[in-house]
Amino acid sequence: MRGARRVAARATAETKPKGKVAVFVSGGGSNLRALHAAMEDGRVNAQVAVVVSNIPSCGGVEWSKERGIPTLTYPPKKGEEGLTPDDLVAELQAAGVEYVLLAGYLRLIPPQLCRAYEDKMLNVHPALLPAFGGKGMHGHHVHEAVVASGARFSGPTVHFVNEEFDKGKIVAQRHVDVKPGMDADDVAASVLAEEHLVFAHVAAAQAATGVEIGRASCRERV
Ligand code: GRF
Repeated sequence: MRGARRVAARATAETKPKGKVAVFVSGGGSNLRALHAAMEDGRVNAQVAVVVSNIPSCGGVEWSKERGIPTLTYPPKKGEEGLTPDDLVAELQAAGVEYVLLAGYLRLIPPQLCRAYEDKMLNVHPALLPAFGGKGMHGHHVHEAVVASGARFSGPTVHFVNEEFDKGKIVAQRHVDVKPGMDADDVAASVLAEEHLVFAHVAAAQAATGVEIGRASCRERV
């Protein structure tokens, strides 16, 4: 973000009430914790109103419960009763959620949610989209494919979410070196550290400027 925009964004953030976000997780929740920390120390003018997961026992949900952050399960387990896509949207809206952040959520987002939060839903993907994205490209599979390809760089991508896996408009990317001898675990650790930074950075811009970054079609490098 350039100087004048940064000043404008900060001025807006100082006067705006905290935006309410929903964070979706399926795993340990390190991105959730990084986002929460950035909200707590004022880098992101927002608060986590609710955490949504398909795995009620995952680390991200446990962590949220310990802090009294409301949690929802979506989708329910096969054969069990639970929230429908319309219920999910209704719950988020009732909680006042303005933005949705997908932080390692491994289920396809229902079209109802895409429509309700068009230009207001972001995902962090652990590779440089449009490469190494799409169905099946998640978690370790991504980093293994990067190493196998011989790519010299990788890094996280933050992008808007639409109804196709990893196809929404790219908002920001950071790169890390993939050095000779690095394996998928090494690349994953290196990318994850950058995910924490770039997702908080974009969430800050989103909270400060609202829908503007969604409409601007910008590819901002941060
Ligand atoms: C991250 O690598 C994220 O990019 C991917 O899943 C992982 C989640 O990690 N989609 P965590 O649960 O935030 O620690």
